[in-house]
Amino acid sequence: MIKKITNIFFEKFSTQPEVFRSPGRINILGEHTDYNEGFVLPAAIDKNIYVAISKRPDSEVHLFACDFNEQFVTNIYQIKPAQKQWPNYILGVVDQLQKNGHQVGGFNLVLDGDIPIGAGLSSSAAVECATLFGLNAVFDLGLTKIQMAPLAQKAEHVYAGVHCGIMDQFASLFGKKEHAIKLDCRNLHYEYIPANMGNYKIILFNSNVKHNLASSEYNTRRKQCEEGVAIISQNNPLVKSLRDVDMNMLNKYAALLDPVVFKRCKYVVQENERLLGACQDLKLSDLQALGIKMYETHEGLRKDYEVSCKELDFLVNYVKAIPSVAGARMVGGGFGGCSINLIHKEAVDKIISEISAAYETAMGLTLTTYQVTIEDGTAACNINN
Ligand code: GLA
Repeated sequence: MIKKITNIFFEKFSTQPEVFRSPGRINILGEHTDYNEGFVLPAAIDKNIYVAISKRPDSEVHLFACDFNEQFVTNIYQIKPAQKQWPNYILGVVDQLQKNGHQVGGFNLVLDGDIPIGAGLSSSAAVECATLFGLNAVFDLGLTKIQMAPLAQKAEHVYAGVHCGIMDQFASLFGKKEHAIKLDCRNLHYEYIPANMGNYKIILFNSNVKHNLASSEYNTRRKQCEEGVAIISQNNPLVKSLRDVDMNMLNKYAALLDPVVFKRCKYVVQENERLLGACQDLKLSDLQALGIKMYETHEGLRKDYEVSCKELDFLVNYVKAIPSVAGARMVGGGFGGCSINLIHKEAVDKIISEISAAYETAMGLTLTTYQVTIEDGTAACNINN
């Protein structure tokens, strides 16, 4: 991948670039909790976005996306959202750098990667983080990773229109081999928890659907949670987010809350509590207990948060009865993308072949599967490798 991107870069721009990579992520537990100032438990995976970058002597910005075989040209003094989607993840980062007073000159950038797009594995956050990390190095901007995370998140808000939390960008930047990151999204304090999978493998089933209400419904969920907090905080001024609410308190306000808002809040409060237990399970390598919590999370996302879809429900239900699967659930924002499964290594091949056939019969869709490992976060690449 590094050789390929360097060669393409050289063909286009006749110079050697610097190359950077940023990974996709999985999330073991803690879904839709990040923008509620809760906890998440993501990890970076062995699938990456790569960017090759060099400075230009002029103020032009030349971008090339290998996947689409498409070029996009603009000027550093005229950064604005593009019609096409892919340049926006790069331009959004440049825009944020400029708004924060950082000097970025003209540059060439080639984009490539092996994170499946639209699979809920945060390829967009990986593009943002690789670009930001790369521009920071090339233009010597002096940003630390902890400063980069909110900046990349803001780029997504402004240029992609999704009011995402901080999880994806943080996980991509801060991933650590064989560890999950327990992140407190209230203050960005984090702890690495060894993710010892023993005889189990992390297998992703890509439903290969991405229902197009994903981003509008995402923003709606965020508003519904805020609506719940606004009502509860009228009588409890110390409540700033759902992080400050437990089930006792929530139940007291049930009558004042719209029933849909109540369900949304209930899921988030329960998920935060569940996450603390999941961290213990992981520390003890108790994958059975962790797996049960993953199924519970899926149920909450399906019934109360209503961000699943029939394809993901099919995939999770299918494995639920199989003893060699410790747990499964949808991963990421929802409405399509992947389910994450903890499967005993001896059973992986058999389960993949059975569920692929069953999925095709039931949904008329092809299932794509990936075995992933947990790897380090954003870094510069050695182009001689
Ligand atoms: C998307 C967002 C994240 C997070 C998840 C749901 O991936 O980008 O910030 O909210 O959905 O947990």
